[in-house]
Amino acid sequence: MASFVALFLLCSFFAAQLCNATDTITRNNLLRDGETLVSSGGNYALGFFSPGNSKQRYVGIWYNKVQEQTVVWVANRDNPVRNSSSGILKIAERGNLAIYNASSTNPVWSTNASLPGSKYIKPTLIYMLLDTGNLVLCDEDNMADFLWQSFDYPTDTHLPGMKIGMNLKLGTSWSLRSWKSPDDPSTGDFSYEMSGAGSVEMFIKKGSQKIWRSGKWNGQGWNGVPGLRANGIMNFSVASNPNEIYYIYSFHNTSVFTKAVLDNLGFIRRTTWAENTKRWNILRSYPDDACDNYGRCGSFGRCNPSYYPSCSCLPGFKFKSTNEGDALEGTQICVRKRELLCGKGDGFLKLENMKLPDTSNIRVDMSLSIKECEIQCRNNCSCTAYSSAYVDGSGCVAWFDDLNDVRDFPEWGQDLFVRVDAIELGKYC
Ligand SMILES: *[C@@H]1O[C@H](CO)[C@@H](O)[C@H](O)[C@H]1NC(C)=O
Ligand SMILES: *[C@@H]1O[C@H](CO)[C@@H](O)[C@H](O)[C@H]1NC(C)=O
Ligand SMILES: *[C@@H]1O[C@H](CO)[C@@H](O)[C@H](O)[C@H]1NC(C)=O
Ligand SMILES: *[C@@H]1O[C@H](CO)[C@@H](O)[C@H](O)[C@H]1NC(C)=O
Ligand SMILES: *[C@@H]1O[C@H](CO)[C@@H](O)[C@H](O)[C@H]1NC(C)=O
Ligand SMILES: *[C@@H]1O[C@H](CO)[C@@H](O)[C@H](O)[C@H]1NC(C)=O
Repeated sequence: MASFVALFLLCSFFAAQLCNATDTITRNNLLRDGETLVSSGGNYALGFFSPGNSKQRYVGIWYNKVQEQTVVWVANRDNPVRNSSSGILKIAERGNLAIYNASSTNPVWSTNASLPGSKYIKPTLIYMLLDTGNLVLCDEDNMADFLWQSFDYPTDTHLPGMKIGMNLKLGTSWSLRSWKSPDDPSTGDFSYEMSGAGSVEMFIKKGSQKIWRSGKWNGQGWNGVPGLRANGIMNFSVASNPNEIYYIYSFHNTSVFTKAVLDNLGFIRRTTWAENTKRWNILRSYPDDACDNYGRCGSFGRCNPSYYPSCSCLPGFKFKSTNEGDALEGTQICVRKRELLCGKGDGFLKLENMKLPDTSNIRVDMSLSIKECEIQCRNNCSCTAYSSAYVDGSGCVAWFDDLNDVRDFPEWGQDLFVRVDAIELGKYC
């Protein structure tokens, strides 16, 4: 009885915040600055916030159970409500979700779902904050079908179940864009996206400049990211069909919060929340070492972080200049030692445990064995290297022209077979 009374008092005290906490916005309710939606299991909250020292108001989603406010999604990142606390979030024309400030009838921000034509709002349309952190628009008559979802518009955070990749049907992509600064969630310089060409690979880019790449998808993980494939606590997968190709992940213990964030300095950090220490623990952070910086040793270069200088050339290549300063700065260019005479005694040298070259210019054939892969590469004089497509030895990937961003990758790398001239081949046989 006593606890019932206590609960009752608590409820009347926090009435607006706690006991009436709802996970939906309908045609008949709206969300004012200061109020929050809370997902049904209590994992996530949605409301207005100001990051860091900012006075601007944004609508975002954060962890409801994590004390230090950790925002995972921002609706109006480039269109804040200025310095007031009079923002309103509600369903607007045609069922789009819109943010208004006090003084205007035009929204500061709005979703742009392709909803049926008229301005009329179907009464059964609702926005619901799910316990996965996804804000979805659905029709109460058909809850399984999302007409719009925040997971399709990532900010800087990749949550479990969220796709990063390409919607081939619409010609759009799912990618992360960094915040400008910890005080400013507006669109920053860095992106984290899947490569458009050839194979499946993740890139961190600054504008169009590549900063880091994950290495090729190898069936279980990324060729250049250690441990993940053997790490039993997480499940990474790539799925592709004619409409889309994407990368998702999950944590086997679904009660652990985990996320990958592209920060404003261009680092991807994968963290998990530790309830006992009340901290985000870093599992992985990229770029990691000097050899992780994209293209560090140039075309046909080879980077090994445990050597100094770390750059050398792939077999059959040498530095164009012998200037030591260039070597230390890694500004040397690798050129062929001798002309490659195709079909005149040339062949392939095996390099073990490598992060395979940039996959922008490759051909993949999953039906070929490694032996057939070699034959195909040998028979095409512009083929410079080949490898198994997957870490289990299946499939064939062949490179044409330059080999870029190759590094030694002890324990986690794959075998790379590089085409060399007859004399180079003779040195090793
Ligand atoms: C909000 O902005 C108005 C107009 O720019 C300004 O006059 C006012 O001082 C600001 N209020 C605060 C609390 O910063
Ligand atoms: C309110 O929003 C309108 C439309 O975006 C904008 O023109 C106006 O400056 C905003 N006022 C404030 C105080 O943010
Ligand atoms: C909204 O979507 C329509 C059609 O999908 C497009 O033509 C229009 O430019 C979009 N508007 C905004 C503001 O993104
Ligand atoms: C990993 O995730 C994929 C896609 O969701 C799923 O098909 C697969 O069964 C999962 N594997 C494990 C071991 O949980
Ligand atoms: C899952 O994580 C929760 C929270 O950290 C922990 O209490 C629980 O023991 C974990 N379950 C398993 C099966 O590891
Ligand atoms: C070699 O491969 C390239 C790239 O796939 C292709 O364009 C070219 O036609 C091939 N050449 C021969 C002789 O098969």
